[in-house]
Amino acid sequence: MKITYHGHACFTVEDANHAIIIDPFLSGNPGADLTPDKVKVDAILLSHGHGDHVGDTEAIAKANDATIVAPFELAMHFAHKGFKAHPMHLGGSHVFEFGKVKLTLAFHGSGIEAGDHMEYAGNPCGFLITMGQKTFYHAGDTGLFGDMKIIGEYNEIDAAALPIGDNFTMGPEDALLAAQWVHAKATIPMHYNTFDLIKQDASKFAADLEGKGLHAVVLSVGQSYEV
Ligand code: NI
Ligand code: MN
Repeated sequence: MKITYHGHACFTVEDANHAIIIDPFLSGNPGADLTPDKVKVDAILLSHGHGDHVGDTEAIAKANDATIVAPFELAMHFAHKGFKAHPMHLGGSHVFEFGKVKLTLAFHGSGIEAGDHMEYAGNPCGFLITMGQKTFYHAGDTGLFGDMKIIGEYNEIDAAALPIGDNFTMGPEDALLAAQWVHAKATIPMHYNTFDLIKQDASKFAADLEGKGLHAVVLSVGQSYEV
């Protein structure tokens, strides 16, 4: 499984036969390495409805005839607009052609900007994605919560992406606890440095992880990690 970071909370996950993208916030992110027209994927996974996660979903879905996998309310928003969508919900898993997806809890909000108001988009989520024999945990936007211990206890996680930006999600201190609970073979920080408000020192976070005996993988934008 090859995991590539495209900035903020966006990752592509690939094996020899399939590719998916998570939270494709590309054209709105000056720090992204990729433009939506370069994305070749089977599916788009969305953790919640906020603009810095939905991003270029529509353009990518259209160009690739890709399925949008998301919590029910968010998936239906796209289904009503004519997109191929696969609704799921918290705690549910499904085996797709590309692999297995399980929706995990995430403590955050979810809504879609619609002119002068927010459209309801259900609960936010994280993802446990298994392709081949490897599992990637993408926590989504979330604060720290105790059930991360359960996620870590009952899953063999090869790599975990955890938000460290603070303000909207966990900051580095809580993410350090989360990483210990999730107990992945590699911990990748995300959702930081995109805006001034979420500026963090990823190398300090990495050093703190290593201090706890965990393997830190700080990916620069465009960089991949193979598990
Ligand atoms: Ni958000
Ligand atoms: Mn966000």
